[in-house]
Amino acid sequence: MNKKGFIFDLDGVIVDTAKYHFLAWQRLAKSLDIDFTEEENEQLKGVSRVKSLEKILSWGNKTISQEKFIELMGKKNEEYLSYIAEMDSNEILPDVPRVLNSLIKKQQPISLGSASKNARVILERVNLKKYFDAIVDGNDVSKAKPDPEVFLIAAKLLGMKPEQCIVFEDSVAGVEAANVANMISIGIGSKSVLGHAKYVFKDFTEISEEFIKELINN
Ligand code: BG6
Ligand code: MG
Repeated sequence: MNKKGFIFDLDGVIVDTAKYHFLAWQRLAKSLDIDFTEEENEQLKGVSRVKSLEKILSWGNKTISQEKFIELMGKKNEEYLSYIAEMDSNEILPDVPRVLNSLIKKQQPISLGSASKNARVILERVNLKKYFDAIVDGNDVSKAKPDPEVFLIAAKLLGMKPEQCIVFEDSVAGVEAANVANMISIGIGSKSVLGHAKYVFKDFTEISEEFIKELINN
């Protein structure tokens, strides 16, 4: 059987945590008198914690001290973690386990490629850690998506060349990172947002067994 490297983003692809990032950032922004829309929030998806706060401050034309910046990032993460603490496997997005099981059955190498520093905790909470041959997260990279670093490290750990890898992503930055890495990008979400992905599906329920086989064999 052919082998491909399957790389999954976490937030908004495997679990429905994108909404928690949004809630926590929005509350923090409000405390600074900054408002941002769900559309602007698309720009925060896939982007590191530092970059996210930089963007929010720039939307509000605000500058703050380094100490305050660190304090605010801590505050946001605290709120985010309070949501995560309540999470269980019910928050795994539809058909993700089916696709993971299908890949395992076909002996395909699987990695996580996430910007989050909380990725390992979340995978453990929803009991999916066992599916992954490699985990690359926000603690392992120095450059945030759209830089391809996270996916290139994942490919290396799986022993695959970038062009043999397939990336599932819900963010504009992540799709761009996969494309720059010369990997096949699969957008999970809406075509209007993820138009640069090679394929776009609403969610994993649209990813058929035939399509998985095609990915492996082409
Ligand atoms: C990405 C999310 O997966 O991780 C971003 O899409 C988030 O919204 C980033 O900012 C960093 O996550 P964390 O958990 O380290 O703050
Ligand atoms: Mg994501």
